[in-house]
Amino acid sequence: MGEALRGRDFLAVSDLSREELLDLLEIASQLKGGLDPGTPLARNSVAMIFLRPSNRTRVSFEAAVHRLGGHPIALFDREIDMGRRESVADVGRILDRFVVGLVARVPSDRDLRGLAQAMQGPVINAMTDRGHPCQILADCLTVQEQLGHLEGARITFVGDGNNVCNSWMEAAEVVGLDLRVVTPPGYSPPFPTSELDSALADTEIIYTDVWTSMGQEEQHEDRRQDFGPYQVNQSLLAKAPQSAKVMHCLPAHRGEEITDEVLDGPQSVVFAQAENRFWVQLALLLGIFAPAAAAP
Ligand code: CP
Ligand code: NVA
Repeated sequence: MGEALRGRDFLAVSDLSREELLDLLEIASQLKGGLDPGTPLARNSVAMIFLRPSNRTRVSFEAAVHRLGGHPIALFDREIDMGRRESVADVGRILDRFVVGLVARVPSDRDLRGLAQAMQGPVINAMTDRGHPCQILADCLTVQEQLGHLEGARITFVGDGNNVCNSWMEAAEVVGLDLRVVTPPGYSPPFPTSELDSALADTEIIYTDVWTSMGQEEQHEDRRQDFGPYQVNQSLLAKAPQSAKVMHCLPAHRGEEITDEVLDGPQSVVFAQAENRFWVQLALLLGIFAPAAAAP
């Protein structure tokens, strides 16, 4: 990975070149295989703002910061009250005085970029309503592990054309994936969508996400109606090759976008996928906070 990521923000998958993304996955694999990352964050703190709930993202980042010798400081909506108690820019300027970088889960991409502008230290996107780039980096590692290849992988995303889907589309551009997106009418991203049966016929990965994302709770009933035919269940799986793997970013709303039978079934790799959040973020933090090489 060399010097490529040092000090940089990571706000979107498209912030990375193809080589940088593949290098990051390679480092993540090596870390998973036992490579010692050292303690580049020793005696440093990293702030983490979570304006939306989280299990995987928060815990995997906290554990990864700690693994690198650093001290993670998590701040939640009720205490930071960003944009009301204090402006977005002031939150960033203040944090910059105390910590070496920020991991931020904020609904608005604009606020995320506002924080990045206000801070000299790097900012990492831990999910906005527009994208979830750390999730997709980890998912790329999972696809590579499961299929033995990433470039050209045939991935069928079935569900809501939302943040996770958007970041998949960016990854498809950066890496070169055969991504098929299948959504109900009215929920498609600005991207040509595919027809379900033909997308599934030779797919290697079936990927889904919740029908009702965080912040959309009042649309829940409408969405349950609109997404019904897109549930990843046994009959949908039967349209794909038996070797196809099932992935989900989690949390799952079991019985909505995916059935228990599929989520807990032999084709599901969702828990291995979740574990990869840690390894990829460890690699990302290592790249961003790598110590500068000693002057010759
Ligand atoms: N997949 C994911 O980002 O999970 P959390 O919302 O629990 O962090
Ligand atoms: N689309 C989901 C992803 C959760 C990781 C959400 O935004 O709630």
